[in-house]
Amino acid sequence: METIASIILAAGKSKRMKTALPKTLHRIAGQEIIRYPLNVCRDLSLSPVIVVISPNNEQLKNIIKENKMLSVEQDPPLGTGHAVMQTERLLDKFKGYVLILCGDTPLLTQKTISDFINFTKEAKATCGILTAEMSDPASYGRIIRNQSGEITKIVEAKDLLKEQSNIYEINSGVYCILNQSLFKFLKEITPNNKQNEYYLTDIIEHMINSREKVVGFKIDNPDELTGINTRNDLALATSIMRNRINEKHMQNGVTIIDPQTTYIDHAVSISADTTIWPNTHIYGKTRIGKNCTIETGSIIKDTKISDNVHVKPYCVIEESFIDSKTVIGPFARLRPESKLGKNVRIGNFVEIKKSKIMQGTKANHLSYIGDSEIGANVNIGCGTITCNYDGVKKYKTIIEDNVFVGSDSQFIAPVKIGKGATIGAGSTITENVPPNSLALSRSKQVIKKDWKRKEKTDK
Ligand code: UD1
Ligand code: CA
Repeated sequence: METIASIILAAGKSKRMKTALPKTLHRIAGQEIIRYPLNVCRDLSLSPVIVVISPNNEQLKNIIKENKMLSVEQDPPLGTGHAVMQTERLLDKFKGYVLILCGDTPLLTQKTISDFINFTKEAKATCGILTAEMSDPASYGRIIRNQSGEITKIVEAKDLLKEQSNIYEINSGVYCILNQSLFKFLKEITPNNKQNEYYLTDIIEHMINSREKVVGFKIDNPDELTGINTRNDLALATSIMRNRINEKHMQNGVTIIDPQTTYIDHAVSISADTTIWPNTHIYGKTRIGKNCTIETGSIIKDTKISDNVHVKPYCVIEESFIDSKTVIGPFARLRPESKLGKNVRIGNFVEIKKSKIMQGTKANHLSYIGDSEIGANVNIGCGTITCNYDGVKKYKTIIEDNVFVGSDSQFIAPVKIGKGATIGAGSTITENVPPNSLALSRSKQVIKKDWKRKEKTDK
């Protein structure tokens, strides 16, 4: 198959977003907007892919480099036509079709793009334009057709004549154009319009006047063409993407009780027969196994969860690993580098940070476990605290297998508790405890017989 090149337009001022961050770096479902069109180009093996960017946009440059694509700067930004002109040097030897995409149009699917390219090729057209009907075309450019239904030009919303205001077919900003014709007709456009910009869309009229074949490929679902110009567009595109992601998981056998309030990032993977309760947020590169339950209000980020895990309501979990059959929550917090083994129980108001907890261990109530290694089948009593920080440095607590920690104990790290030891409730442990021993540090209880509180007297 002949190769197809791509130009992605991502320069300009993002004025309507009112943002310091260029709009293509805003995120949708956990991924920068620009990555969506880049991924489509990568998956379709288009080459070369050239992204037009504004100067000094290092973040965008790095994303492009990471994808082994090229970038070219446009300075100052004088419109979409001017943006494409900047790529001429890089494409002077290229023969064939060039797919032009906008960096601000993240919902386009690989299937639509590949159908569109094939349609243009089969029509042997000089230029194909991807279009759709929108009930409210707002700021999109409109496709003007003659009485025989052939495209004659594209008119920008700001330049529409009154009699063109009832046209609902919009320009997606996606084109498939023969390389030589593209740069030939770009030389004919002028910034003679309301915005004083070189509109890429103006080449269509010039092509028609030169009797080149221009075809429209109209798709049924206009959602795919949503361009992000404003924060409203961003919210709209985010909700469309969210529905798409949720549908994919449901098709794969995941139960999502309320898709409207379930927020799953695009890179998350979830296996079949897992149930996600309402109002949950699953972010980043999280992977969730089979037959898990993630209950209401939980927020999970960059975490790997094995099969049959139960996350009860309102847990906050970050960069952690949870092995199978473990139950956590309600109201538990796992901070980065927490590793829980199989059949572990972490209950309410327990915070864990950078700690490894082995199989069968329980910490069911009100505890802080930080910088620790806890063995198998340990019982951590209510209110246990590892005192890992002396104000300067962090230290480790090691608790070996089968230890029983009584309630309200503190471990002043660094400290190690040997296998099978017992810590009496209310102890402050400052020294290592040998295996199979009892450590107690609380003071003896005092009883004063026949002792009465003072009576309250009015002043
Ligand atoms: C553009 C189209 C419009 C179409 C719409 C689809 C033109 C003149 N208009 O309008 O017909 O309906 O897209 O979403 O082409 N950019 C640059 N350099 C510039 C200006 C823009 O690289 O000088 C980039 C932007 O980053 C953006 C893309 O080109 O990703 C489109 O620009 P934008 O200003 O958003 O154009 P629209 O007004 O949406
Ligand atoms: Ca746009």
